[in-house]
Amino acid sequence: MGKKLVIGSSGQIGVELIEQLAKEFGANQVIASDIKSVFDKKNSAVEYVILDVLDKEKLFKTIKDHNISEVYLLAAMLSAIAEKNIQLAWDLNMKGLFNILDLAKEKHIEKIFWPSSIAVFGPTSPKLNTPQSTLLEPSTVYGISKMSGERWCEYYFLKYGVDIRSLRYPGIISYKSQPGGGTTDYAIEIFHAAINQGFYNSFISNEVTLPMIYMKDAIRATMELMRADRKTLSINSSYNLAAISFNPAEIANEIKFLFPEFKITYSPDFRNRIALSWPSIIDDSVARKDWGWKHEFDLKKTILEMINGIKNSVFN
Ligand code: SER
Repeated sequence: MGKKLVIGSSGQIGVELIEQLAKEFGANQVIASDIKSVFDKKNSAVEYVILDVLDKEKLFKTIKDHNISEVYLLAAMLSAIAEKNIQLAWDLNMKGLFNILDLAKEKHIEKIFWPSSIAVFGPTSPKLNTPQSTLLEPSTVYGISKMSGERWCEYYFLKYGVDIRSLRYPGIISYKSQPGGGTTDYAIEIFHAAINQGFYNSFISNEVTLPMIYMKDAIRATMELMRADRKTLSINSSYNLAAISFNPAEIANEIKFLFPEFKITYSPDFRNRIALSWPSIIDDSVARKDWGWKHEFDLKKTILEMINGIKNSVFN
């Protein structure tokens, strides 16, 4: 059993995934990597490597030098920012995946985690209780790249036996690091704004409901899926994953219980159109059946964690 490499370790998920992997397997079993020249987590015992996933040679060398058997490929461009960088987003999201898939096909990696997203769904997918298998006609660059990525993951599994596991993450809510360029980022910004300004101007309109998940649940889902016996997995592409669903008006009302002065206004922009193309509530019964997925954080618990976390956090 080799070490675990997290690619995109400075991102929203990477920062917390590294902590959890180090806790479960030991810091010396985890290698963090990102394109940034410095590792943000100065106190971490985890070794850091500067790595661009598009640099296949360095990727190969890193995997060999550090005896890597498991890769968590988190480097990607999210939905909103991808709309402004179409070609770059496609290249990063697809070529990065191919580089890893090919190294696994050549038996240099044993197991891969690659996140997909609710963005694989589009305006023609059912909005409520969106099934695992349904029409996938995404209307964003990000969604198209994730949908294509899912197909390639299944192809590499069926044709070459590559063990790749994947989740269609909902919007992930967390405070330990800033999200970057997503549509669901409003559900994080709103907490910082409530605490620091008492006011938030939402780029998503009041009644647009989106599926969300608290980071601790998202990390636990990732670890559980990676640990699951492959024989129990009926999905070879990416699992629907769900926890909570709410719209900006609902979360604002909950925040008002704790900050009665809090005010919200709405100035929907292009991200609102993206949000409107996504489902409101996801059916994740296949994940629940296959590997026992169950979320722990409801909306109230998520809000309390966020508020306490931001108040105690250095990012505040
Ligand atoms: N959170 C992502 C985004 O908003 C969706 O997976 O882009």
